[in-house]
Amino acid sequence: MILTVTMNPAIDKVYAIDDFHVHGVFRPKAMTATAGGKGLNVARVARILGQQVMATGLIGGAAGQFIHDQLHNIGIIDNFVPIKGETRICINIMDEKNNTSTEILEPGPVVSEDEYKAFLERFEEMVAQCDVVTASGSLPRGIPADFYRSLIAIAKRKRKIFILDTSGEYLKEGIKEGPFMVKPNQHEFRQVVGHDFSTKEDYVSALKLLKRSGVVFPVLSLGDKGCVAALPNGDVYHFFSPPIKVVNTVGSGDAFVAGCAVALSRAAQPIEVIKLGMACGMANTQFFETGMVSPELVAKFLECIQIDFWGVI
Ligand SMILES: Nc1ncnc2c1ncn2[C@@H]1O[C@H](COP(=O)(O)OP(=O)(O)OP(=O)(O)O)[C@@H](O)[C@H]1O
Ligand SMILES: [Mg+2]
Repeated sequence: MILTVTMNPAIDKVYAIDDFHVHGVFRPKAMTATAGGKGLNVARVARILGQQVMATGLIGGAAGQFIHDQLHNIGIIDNFVPIKGETRICINIMDEKNNTSTEILEPGPVVSEDEYKAFLERFEEMVAQCDVVTASGSLPRGIPADFYRSLIAIAKRKRKIFILDTSGEYLKEGIKEGPFMVKPNQHEFRQVVGHDFSTKEDYVSALKLLKRSGVVFPVLSLGDKGCVAALPNGDVYHFFSPPIKVVNTVGSGDAFVAGCAVALSRAAQPIEVIKLGMACGMANTQFFETGMVSPELVAKFLECIQIDFWGVI
């Protein structure tokens, strides 16, 4: 079973409003509300691929209840831990006529020390029931930036695979604990090393840096250029595909993490792990909805992934 961690979930609401502007009153022509947060995207994609998934994190208030209901509807085991604060709502106003998007992101709850300590206790029990753990996205206010280190340490002690997909300080701190896999995109990795990187040598030295910190299987995802990965044995490959037409690329990284988690849970070979991640990332680009794939598209894209051997580190 895969355990997905979403410490800072949200309800993602999208309003379709033509000619949106300030000082107006608007009646949306369409509206969607989904359980959001990067870890919940991972959970959804892994579930679509037929995997047993348990989702955890912190949840509160009426928005939290909405997330409980959605998880139930799609057959994900719900192990979210309650907090006093209200789960946030994130609003995106899409104006298709003028091709603009306006976002309003609530700050979310402030979590107390008692609450996140209670979470850590529950997490220990959940980890025992799973073989792969993923942790995605930011942390809510009140939780220290090195919190993911505690989760990684617990998972490692129980000999479980841990995939960390986050950014900024959370990533910098998390890397120090040597998670099994990290998957920063170029922008996120630039934040860690503090400079631009674009050549083959840059990518290889980035992977080396991650390996030296104890990351067993580091991956740098490169959007339409695929990804570069250093396998556990030190072989470095560039994975790529022919260009595809896309609908919406948001959440492709989350779908990538889900694909890798599913393959690792099935004990697939390292190259197959990355290929399934890529195929899920690509399949996600074909849907308007964030963090969505279909088994048919994943199977189709798996066939067109190519690999280029870049050496050993
Ligand atoms: N335009 C694209 N064309 C083909 N494949 C894509 C495209 N965008 C993303 N992908 C696939 O998805 C994977 C992950 O995408 P990306 O590097 O953009 O992740 P990300 O920036 O973490 O995304 P997010 O944080 O929005 O989930 C890529 O390695 C690639 O396989
Ligand atoms: Mg990402």
